[in-house]
Amino acid sequence: MAARQSGLIIPRVKLGTQGFEVSKLGFGCMGLSGAYNDPVAEEDGVSIIKYAFNKGITFFDTADVYGAAGANELLVGKALKQLHREKVQLATKFGISRTQSRDFSGMIVKGSPDYVRSCIEASLKRLDVEYIDLYYQHRVDTSVPIEDTVGELKKLVEEEKIKYIGLSEASPDTIRRAHAVHPITAVQIEWSLWTRDIEEEIVPLCRELGIGIVPYSPLGRGFFGGKGVVESMHAISSLKTSHPRFQAENLDKNKSIYDRVNNLAKKHQATPAQLALAWVLHQGEDIVPIPGTTKIKNLDQNIGALAVKLSEKDLKEISESVPADDVAGGRYYNGLDHFSWKLANTPAKDSKIST
Ligand code: ATR
Repeated sequence: MAARQSGLIIPRVKLGTQGFEVSKLGFGCMGLSGAYNDPVAEEDGVSIIKYAFNKGITFFDTADVYGAAGANELLVGKALKQLHREKVQLATKFGISRTQSRDFSGMIVKGSPDYVRSCIEASLKRLDVEYIDLYYQHRVDTSVPIEDTVGELKKLVEEEKIKYIGLSEASPDTIRRAHAVHPITAVQIEWSLWTRDIEEEIVPLCRELGIGIVPYSPLGRGFFGGKGVVESMHAISSLKTSHPRFQAENLDKNKSIYDRVNNLAKKHQATPAQLALAWVLHQGEDIVPIPGTTKIKNLDQNIGALAVKLSEKDLKEISESVPADDVAGGRYYNGLDHFSWKLANTPAKDSKIST
């Protein structure tokens, strides 16, 4: 399989209109702490983050909920010690709290001002930094008016604990109301060739408000890299049991999507992962995807995707090779439909539900 090589300089772009400059490609650190595979050894996790930084990726994404007991933030914090802190754009998130249970039933969304405050203190400590560059609300707490949550985030900006505010999986109404309290710099949301439901409303809204978009799972959680198709499902047993698109019956249907993208990739001397990523990268200057990987080889390929140049005609052809109706299975994990941006509205400010 051909793969574009990555001897290129990673461009710098502005996310949002508040002056936040990042590398055009970010790095999603979640998988290093075992989202899809077993967690990597600490020294390997630190090495890959350092490698990415040395290649020009400076925008690193983590969250307090990734890994057991804050493991992913702790790992990123360790890696940061070996980088230039001021040259890194560090993004983390609060908002999903875990009970004892490690399965999805143990995930609770919280967004009260007190909770925000306790989370930032814990994240700063785990990361061992003085400030966070971009602090996202990971999921929207539908019982707390968004004005209250963002009001507290605004105080964190004033106190210089965070520089910029982001939202993840927020509805259009929530984005608009949040932005009225304090400028929102970025919205992180799923966007890839097989998950395109944000294109109608969220993308135009972010452009109208000057908010950057950070697509997560730009490789379809590894599907466009061949996971479950050319690579065994063994490596992604967590997806096999919990994600509709990777369940046997749906995956069988989805394999034809992979084949089509793979054929187009050959035409562009790229791997399917590179083509899928290049397609996301081409959606606009303000789009900064954060693919995750545990392997240097794949990281190099992802950087190489920046060298894949696609014309309008190419983009149309690639888009049309993955029609929404051909994608079998919902885009989000079984039992977590309520985590979707479509349901992420909050009560009006003066009608807070008492809990
Ligand atoms: P998420 O945002 O949920 O982490 P993603 O970025 O769409 O999802 O995909 C991450 C998955 O793609 C990981 O399983 C990663 O596997 P490895 O750790 O084995 O690399 C896989 N992946 C990332 N880059 C890849 C590439 N260039 N080729 C193949 N698989 C890749």
